[in-house]
Amino acid sequence: MNKPLYHFFTADHHRLENLLNQATAEAGEIKLEYYQQFRCGLLRHIKMEEKILFPAAKKVNIELMEKIAPRYRLEHGALTSLMVPPPTVSLIKVIRYVLEKHDFAEEEVGGLYDICEALTHDETQELLDQLAKAEEVPLHPPNPAPIAIEAARRALARAGYNFDEIVIQ
Ligand SMILES: [Fe+2]
Ligand SMILES: [Fe+2]
Repeated sequence: MNKPLYHFFTADHHRLENLLNQATAEAGEIKLEYYQQFRCGLLRHIKMEEKILFPAAKKVNIELMEKIAPRYRLEHGALTSLMVPPPTVSLIKVIRYVLEKHDFAEEEVGGLYDICEALTHDETQELLDQLAKAEEVPLHPPNPAPIAIEAARRALARAGYNFDEIVIQ
């Protein structure tokens, strides 16, 4: 089956993964120019799913989307709050861990993208046009205040993850 939405979002997952890999290519050093592109790109990716993909699928089958979307919403909330503190090795380990599970669940056969693609098959081209036009999310510089990392830990916990358990793995 031809799956243009799946391919669009999956290609973006790979692009973001590459940026994060480039940011951490040298051990003990985080290349901020790549990390900044990753941050920006991930927030735009989440916005495209939350503001374009989910609402289009929800219009077709609200019950189904209300059943499956909460997990993704909570993880988007966690990932968004993980973009706020300045990056550290631990923070990036946690981001990678959550992102890997999140992206897999979106991409797997019968996963989120397959469901949304099937629900919105009558308007695939309109959605692709809207996605291509999606603008970047305005970004603040990283916030080093303890409140930022505390908020990220709480958002992670709401999504079912524990920051410290991931760090020591
Ligand atoms: Fe997502
Ligand atoms: Fe995604």
